[in-house]
Formats: sequence, structure tokens, C-alpha cells
Amino acid sequence: SQVQSVLADKVAAAKNMAFVFDIDGVLVHGDRLIPEGRRVLRMLNGDNQLGIKIPHIFLTNGSGKPELARTQQLSGILGSEISTGQFIQSHTPMRALARYYNTVLVVGGEGTRCRDVAEEYGFRDVVVPDDILAWDPSIAPYRVFTEAERAAARPRDFAAANIDAILVFSDSRDYATDMQIIVDLLRSERGRLGTLARDPESQRIPIYFSQGDLLCPTEHPIPRMSQGAFRIGLEAMYKALTGVELERVVYGKPELATYKYADEVMAAWMDSLHGEERVPDNVYMIGDNPASDIVGGNMYGWNTCLVRTGVFQGGENDEENPASFGVFTNVWEAVTAACRREL
Ligand code: G3P
Ligand code: MG
Repeated sequence: SQVQSVLADKVAAAKNMAFVFDIDGVLVHGDRLIPEGRRVLRMLNGDNQLGIKIPHIFLTNGSGKPELARTQQLSGILGSEISTGQFIQSHTPMRALARYYNTVLVVGGEGTRCRDVAEEYGFRDVVVPDDILAWDPSIAPYRVFTEAERAAARPRDFAAANIDAILVFSDSRDYATDMQIIVDLLRSERGRLGTLARDPESQRIPIYFSQGDLLCPTEHPIPRMSQGAFRIGLEAMYKALTGVELERVVYGKPELATYKYADEVMAAWMDSLHGEERVPDNVYMIGDNPASDIVGGNMYGWNTCLVRTGVFQGGENDEENPASFGVFTNVWEAVTAACRREL
């Protein structure tokens, strides 16, 4: 009948649309729920007129803990099961680097947590700055190194071993120490601490950053500096000391590699949800940061929705990176508008 064919069309349309959610500033603020986030996920997980699951993945520039730990924490806050199969953090695509480097310096995050993340990704030999401090505390003259930190460190003779690459996984908790150690390694002969390369470019080890956001919304009323700010400081210092530009690789939104990775995750997630390994035609990115979520989504040909619950505090739309589908009060308004258009 006509009713049935209308319904079949709507089901097909629901499988041909998908959402990509930013997390901080859209669904949560740190560990605090944004209530519309809970409502949106319940609806997309099947509590809707069609009774169908509408595909969605999560693409965050967040970092600092293993994917499973973070999805479990978010599932609790949001009241819906979030699978690691639909979840990408800033450093998730960096797991591919484990094949290329043996010993890596992993920077950022709380304590030695990012060591756990890197080991889970398959990196064979993971050094963190505290390992270097435990070997030679004079490397960072202003750092107060506690007994607990020393106990968690794995010192070795770093003058006798090379570090093959530097991976900044998360926000530095101590700019002075981390920048000092990174600059030392970038200026060294092939990652050997205690050396100074004669030619800084040809002997320099590579450096990767998990994301480039300058600002991040937090409990503080004005957004706080994030990994991009740390990187800019490091680049300026490196240039001032050596006279050459620092070549580096940045992951995360709005970098193209991360969107390509998101497509792969989306196709695999569609397969597990609807048995069809493909990316739906109508993808909607919901984000709060015009300089990462929106510019990246626009470049990648997604429909973009900017919400007012995070970084964006402007007028009708962002002037530099306007959201193509529009600006919405919150994530519920954005998702329901997209569903009205597609279904
Ligand atoms: O800027 C770092 C991070 O907190 C941003 O997360 O989810 O807004 O991409 P998200
Ligand atoms: Mg955000």
C-alpha cells in the first residue's frame, strides 16, 4: 500500500543519513552532561517514529585515555551505550604509526596515562618525559619531581639510546618541562639526548601532534588554551633557536587524514548496524568549534551544524567558517532539523 511504501522510503532515507558528533561543547562539558545530548542519543538509537537506528559516530579532538575507558565513561554520562567501533579521539588514527617507530616519546596527559594508550596501540617502546627526568632531573631545572612520579617512571641511560619520534598525544601538564625535552630532542643527533646536531634538519626526528585546537571550552567562562597553543609556542622556540622552520604533522579535526579515517569508521559501523559497508550520502557534522569541526566538515563535503553550547559565542553564523546547515541552540535542535529535512 501507499502507507507502506512511504514508510519504506523513510527507512531507506534513515539509513542514508548519518551524524558525526563532536563531544566537548556538544554532548558534554568535560564530565558534565549537556541534557539535549542524552535525548538525542536515545532518539537515534531507535526511540523514534520509525523505530530504526540512525547511524552516528563520534569524532572528538579529546585525548588522554584509552578508547574503551573514555567510551565507558561517556556511556555513563549520556545514558546510551557508545561503542569503541563508533568512536574516534584525536590520537586514535596515530595507532598506524606503531609500525614505523620503535622507541617513541609520548607527551601530554595525566601522569603516565598516555603511555598506556600508546602501548595499547601497539607501540613497542614508549618513553614519557618523567622517565627522562628520573634519569637526569637537571634536564628541567624548575620542575619539582615528586617521589610518586619517580616511582612511576622507567629511567634508563638516555645518552645511550635514540628516540625515533615524538608523539604529542594530549595537553601538556607542564609546558616548561615538556618543551625543554622536546626542543632538546629536536636539536639532537637523531634523537640522542645530550647531543646537538650540526645540521638540525637532516638529523631531526619527526614530531606528530594529535590535534591542533587553539582553544578548548572548560568550566572556566573563557575557553582555555589547548594543544595548538602548545605547538605554536614550540614552533616559535625551535625557529628562534635554530633558524629553520619546524616540519610537523598534525592529526585531529580539521586535518584531512582524520576525516578519511572517520569515513572508514563510519562504513564499518554501518556494516555492523545495517549490514551495509558504506558511508551514507547525507552526513551531518554537529560541532561547537568553527575552526575545527565546521571548517573540516565543510571541506569534506559534509553538512555542518554549529551549536551554541560550546566554543562558538558569535552572532548569526561564524563569519570565517559558516556552518552550511545552520546554527542551532543545542544538539537536539540541530539533529531534529536534519531529520526533518531528510526523512
Ligand atoms: O580541544 C580539546 C578537546 O577537548 C576538544 O574536544 O570533542 O570538542 O573535539 P571536542
Ligand atoms: Mg567541541
